[in-house]
Parts: sequence; structure tokens; C-alpha cells
Amino acid sequence: MLLLKKIKTKIRSKYRTFSKKERPLSYYKREIVSTLRKYYGRANNEVKRYSLEKVPFIVAELSNMCNLNCVMCSTASARRPKGEMPFAIFKKIAEIKSKFGQRTMVLHTVGEPFLCTYLEELVIFCKQNKLTITTTTNGLLLHNHEKLLKKYFDVFSRINFSIDGATAQTYERIRKGGNFKRLLRNVEMMQAYKKHIAMDVQVCVSNENFHEIPRFFEVFKPYFSYDQFLFGFVANLSSEMGMEENYFHKQRIDLQHLVKRPVPCSFFWQQTHVLHDGRVSACCRDYNGELIMGDLKKEGILEIWNNARYSGYRKAHAQNDEQSLPQMCKACLSVDKEITKLFNDFIRFCYLKYPGISADDFVEKLRTWVGLLNRPRPRDIGDFVRLLEDQV
Ligand SMILES: C[S@@+](CC[C@H](N)C(=O)[O-])C[C@H]1O[C@@H](n2cnc3c(N)ncnc32)[C@H](O)[C@@H]1O
Ligand code: SF4
Ligand code: SF4
Repeated sequence: MLLLKKIKTKIRSKYRTFSKKERPLSYYKREIVSTLRKYYGRANNEVKRYSLEKVPFIVAELSNMCNLNCVMCSTASARRPKGEMPFAIFKKIAEIKSKFGQRTMVLHTVGEPFLCTYLEELVIFCKQNKLTITTTTNGLLLHNHEKLLKKYFDVFSRINFSIDGATAQTYERIRKGGNFKRLLRNVEMMQAYKKHIAMDVQVCVSNENFHEIPRFFEVFKPYFSYDQFLFGFVANLSSEMGMEENYFHKQRIDLQHLVKRPVPCSFFWQQTHVLHDGRVSACCRDYNGELIMGDLKKEGILEIWNNARYSGYRKAHAQNDEQSLPQMCKACLSVDKEITKLFNDFIRFCYLKYPGISADDFVEKLRTWVGLLNRPRPRDIGDFVRLLEDQV
């Protein structure tokens, strides 16, 4: 029985293919209504609870260097020394993750993983150790790794592309240093692997690209289906430092009531981040090394996860204790995951419901939706449902 299971797993991982089933319109309507009920049914001051993972999910920062300097991230101006993770630390993380049954190496925090100078050795190491790689990339360096991807595509389980504009002008304005034509060529190159590697597009939505949302579907239609786009709202990434001056406040979508400090933050209960130098940070976007909880070169990961500093901050988050929260978390602002889901489900709903809709009308519908979301907590969800049913 066990042998059969092992053989099946081996075959599945060797010939892994993705055939994502497209969901019908009714699915998105049901999802929207159920998320709205949950969201508005919750008391205003009700605090989310997370259960503490015995073993956190470990994310590895291969590098905090980048070939770009995007306006909303601007990793170049971060104060932490720039560097690449030594292979020895990568191997150590792999060993720990394997011991804990985590077979996927998730590679990124605030740099570009495909800048890695020993990517081939790393990929071969993962293959030999039956690990897969999941990563998010700006996609602009993939052509440098064409041969590697061709030979070892089965090591990559997921590659998410960050694409913040559907025109060269917007893309290159936001993704400073980027080249839209190169991006399109690389996206095209990756089509050869789309049956084997899960791929999504992440868009960081701001006032600069909101109007281009329908255009993403047109421009990238040959490569991605409408449900492979994930539109997330720009966040202030823990502090204003690093971003183009005042970028967040100038360019964030008007979701006045919904931009909040994400406290308690799930990171403290679920996930931890090993930086390129082996130090461990509580946050996935610790540009300056402000939330260092320990050092993997000197301590075990569980020792760090359960130490007094981690536990103290966890308690501060659980109690929303202003005095004891880390400075970085006090300054952190983002939009709730549920609101982001409601936004994405509505986009997909519109895409399916109005196949011939003009880009302007599509954007208008999205603005109306955001307007509804932005109201102070409504007592019922009738207005949302009327919009879904075209009764407005
Ligand atoms: C920090 S990047 C690191 C990986 C890679 N360099 C990339 O751009 O995909 C990871 C993700 O964070 C997103 N991101 C950067 N700044 C952001 C911000 N201010 N608000 C929300 N998401 C942001 C990027 O768009 C990207 O999808
Ligand atoms: S979002 Fe990614 S590509 Fe852009 S500057 Fe930050 S790390 Fe680099
Ligand atoms: S700064 Fe704090 S609250 Fe914000 S994402 Fe990072 S860990 Fe979470």
C-alpha cells in the first residue's frame, strides 16, 4: 500500500501537469455573497484569531538585491546590507524544511530571486533532494535562465509574475528599470512550461493602474486566463521608508474605511522569513532588518520561533497592545484579505458576465464596487447584490 502510494507520488511529481478548471459565473456570485455575509456579519471590534503553528512555514530570501526599483517597493534604498544567501544557508533551510515535511522552497522577500548567481546548483540540489521551488519574480531575467528552465522545469512548482501595468508606459513608470517588451518576450518563453508550472500574475493596484485592469485581460490573453490574475492593493509596507516619497498616501485606492493596521498579523502565528544572511525576521518585507527574531547561524528555528522576543510580539499583536507592538507593525497599513478577495471575485464575475463590455464600462463597474466597499459598515448587503443582479 505504502509502496503504491510512493510510486503514485513519484509519477505525479515527474509528470505533474496543471489543468485549472474554469469556474462558472454562479461560483463567483456565491463566493461574493458568502464573503460579504462573513465580513459584515462580524462585529466591528472582533479580532481575528490564528492558531500558532508548531513549526512555522519558512520563506527564504535568496537575495535582497534587485534589477528594478519599483515605485511602491524601492528596495534599493533599504538600509539592510545587500547580499545573496550563501549556498550553505540555503542548504540548511532546505534540511530544516525537509525535516518538517515542507517540500517547497519558497524564495523571495524583498529582492529578485532570479538574480541568484548559483541558481543552477540550487535547482540541481532541490531536484536531488526532491524539493520544489515556488517564487515570485519580476520576470525580466528569466531569459538568462532559459536552458536551466528547459532542463529542470519540473523543479519549479509555481512562478508568479509581478506585472503592474498593461501598457509599456504604466508598467515602466511603476516598475522602474523594467522593459515591457522584454517582459512580454519572457512571458511568451514561459508558455512552454504552462502545463507543468503553475503561473499567476500579481498586480499591485494603485491609482496609477486601476484604469488598466480590463486591459490586462486583453494584452495577456494569449498567456494567462482571467482567473490567473491576482489584483492586490498597494500597502505601505510597514513604513514609508523605501517607497517613492508619500507614494502610498498619494496613490492608494480610496478604501478609507478598509485600510488598516493588520494586527494581529498572521505572520506571527504562521510564517517566518530567513534573510540572506541567516537572520530570521517576522516580516516578509523587512527592508531594514527591524523585526529580527534570531539568527539561524547560531540557533535552531524552533528555538527562535518560541523565544521571548517572538512570544512577546505575538502577545502584543494578540492584544493589540499599542505600547508593546513593534514600531514597524504600528506603521503598517494594508487592506483586509477579504476585501481583496471581494475585489478579485467581482472582477472575475464581471469578466464572465459582460463578455463584450468596453474597458471604460468595466472600470466604471469596478469603481462602483469599490465605492460600495468603501462605505462605513452597511447593515445589509442589498446594494452589493443589486449591483450583481444589474438592478442599479
Ligand atoms: C517585494 S516583491 C519580491 C519579488 C520580485 N522582485 C517581484 O517583484 O515579484 C514581491 C511582491 O511584493 C509586491 N509589492 C511590492 N511593493 C508593494 C506594496 N507597496 N504593496 C503591495 N505589494 C507590493 C510586488 O508587486 C511583488 O508582487
Ligand atoms: S517589487 Fe520586486 S522587482 Fe520591484 S523593486 Fe521590489 S523586489 Fe524589485
Ligand atoms: S510590519 Fe508587522 S503587521 Fe505589517 S506585515 Fe510585517 S509583521 Fe505584519
